[in-house]
Amino acid sequence: MKHELKLTMRILGIETSCDETGIAIYDERQGLLAHRLYSQIELHAAYGGVVPELASRDHILKTLPLIDQTLQAAQCTSKDIDAIAYTAGPGLVGALLVGATLAKSLAFAWQKPTIAVHHLEAHVLSVMLTDPKPSFPFLALLISGGHTMLIAAHAIGRYEIIGETLDDAAGEAFDKVAKMLELGYPGGPQVAKLAERGRPGRFNFPRPLCQAGNVDFSFSGLKTAVALAIQAAPSDPQTHADIAHAFEIAVVDTLVYKCKQALKKTGFTQCVIAGGVSANQRLRQAMQTFAHQSHAKIFFPPPALCTDNGVMIAYAGLCHVDARDHDHRIQVRARWPLDQLTI
Ligand code: KG4
Ligand code: ZN
Repeated sequence: MKHELKLTMRILGIETSCDETGIAIYDERQGLLAHRLYSQIELHAAYGGVVPELASRDHILKTLPLIDQTLQAAQCTSKDIDAIAYTAGPGLVGALLVGATLAKSLAFAWQKPTIAVHHLEAHVLSVMLTDPKPSFPFLALLISGGHTMLIAAHAIGRYEIIGETLDDAAGEAFDKVAKMLELGYPGGPQVAKLAERGRPGRFNFPRPLCQAGNVDFSFSGLKTAVALAIQAAPSDPQTHADIAHAFEIAVVDTLVYKCKQALKKTGFTQCVIAGGVSANQRLRQAMQTFAHQSHAKIFFPPPALCTDNGVMIAYAGLCHVDARDHDHRIQVRARWPLDQLTI
């Protein structure tokens, strides 16, 4: 049998930074070959948020079977994998350690290199998995459960944080408001669903820091305003829907406004919205409306890849293929600034 000369890289990606176990195989030439995602939502739902120790234990149970399934679905074996990319941070330290340890162990057994991936960079780069895609440089609004920041993305691996939240992240605000309204976890999709039935105009919440002249965010005051409104108003389903609606609009208005300011400040014309909250439909519509009224071009990741997944890790690994190493030390970073990419 004639051996084909291997010209392209094929990356196995492992994501375990929080409550999703995500595995993917991404081929440089053929693109995404297969991916699997296991969500721990049900496990944590009873607690109203992620319980770190339960998350780690569940990743231990799920990661290897999912890798097997993904290899099978991609019709390949370990021999076809050129490198193993894993989320090295930021995230829950125990959960990160599970992914990193499995990545390093498989790399040792299979004699393959590993690539440490920064979770937030992977979120930003997930926009490259759609068409049309932006070209560097661009502005990125990263809005997830743990982070809210505006980034000047100059090149792969070169990011400058130009604004960030002074307190809660946007996703965290959605989750906390969901808890106040006695909705399930994660709160973002549930608040958005309830907000669809909300009537505009009955409640009006602040647009935090929109007068401040900077591109930072603050969501804790907005959260308190929502808590006070819930306490003062009658506790019926329509009132809760009206509150959810007003809250969602306040967050969306604030995010759109800050993006406009950041585009002005940087002079960039492309804006990428990434991270779990970028799945929000009202935000997508508002950003598209803004794009139609201006010269800005807006890019979102495919909806299924907005929240945590293995595809973005495999893809980010491919982007950093030059950083692959054979080091067997297991190293993760619960906190890891995006503008200092060496682990
Ligand atoms: O990026 P992600 O999956 O995990 C982190 O890295 O944090 O983001 C999860 C966050 C959660 O706070 C969740 O409530 C929020 O994204 N989220 C949404 C929506 N879908 C997920 N927030 C608003 N609207 C949504 N449709
Ligand atoms: Zn994430």
